[in-house]
Amino acid sequence: MLAPELEHYHSHLDQVRILNHLRANPPQKTSTLAGIDQLHIGGRDATARLLEQLYLEAEHRVMDMGCGLGGTSRMLAEKFGCQVSGMDYCGEFCELAEQLTQFFPALNEHITYVQGDAIQQPFANYSFDLVISQHCLMHMPEVDKVLAEIQRVLKPSGLLAMHEVIAGPVQPCLYPTPWAMDGSNSFLTTSEVLQSRMDRAGFTQLHWQDVTEEALAWRLSHGADSRSARGLSPSWVLGHNFRQMAENILLNLQQERIRIVEAIYVRH
Ligand SMILES: C[S@@+](CC[C@H](N)C(=O)[O-])C[C@H]1O[C@@H](n2cnc3c(N)ncnc32)[C@H](O)[C@@H]1O
Repeated sequence: MLAPELEHYHSHLDQVRILNHLRANPPQKTSTLAGIDQLHIGGRDATARLLEQLYLEAEHRVMDMGCGLGGTSRMLAEKFGCQVSGMDYCGEFCELAEQLTQFFPALNEHITYVQGDAIQQPFANYSFDLVISQHCLMHMPEVDKVLAEIQRVLKPSGLLAMHEVIAGPVQPCLYPTPWAMDGSNSFLTTSEVLQSRMDRAGFTQLHWQDVTEEALAWRLSHGADSRSARGLSPSWVLGHNFRQMAENILLNLQQERIRIVEAIYVRH
């Protein structure tokens, strides 16, 4: 039996449809994939804003934790020419992320994907200069253990860049959302709890910004049926419930049931 978080994505992904569509309409730019490869609120704009806070060089090594279909790993490699390891619990996501990256030969040599669990990461100590986590922690019941693993795989003075969904002042969150069909498999925490966990895990905060307003503006400007120019639909990844998930994201943001934060921490 698959773990529930794996089942959630595994059961909806239509890999054949996505690949057939792209073989018939080969993408010229990574942004063409935005309808399916940005599995977070705010799309490429949010990723670009987070990457703007960072300065990386070609020799730097980055781990994209919970990489999904690899949108962020491709943007990292494209912007900085660095080496990126995408890791995700869902092996089918890793497989498709790799196939999507093969449409861009110049990026291919910069990125590898590996199936793995954030709680027991398949990397040696001190492997990375940066770990990036976008919309991942709400999947994880044991965040303290995940933060300890990030400490282990980061080099001393390495950075953790986060773009996460946290619990707002009004509860409960309305489900389904893109990450969970109901509350039993969603682990939203408040900003206070997350920040104290980061302190305890040995990280120092360099940047913390509530980007809920930007996320709301993005959600309002992208209809629930949003597709990229070449017709890729988020429903090919998230299933036919996507429209209701998108509507709930809007309501959760408007009613302050969730908030979105962007943060950068440095490892002691
Ligand atoms: C909402 S998606 C975000 C994907 C990607 N970061 C993005 O922003 O496009 C969350 C991802 O975290 C992955 N995930 C959930 N639990 C995980 C775990 N314990 N270890 C690694 N990946 C995990 C899921 O499979 C999924 O791909």
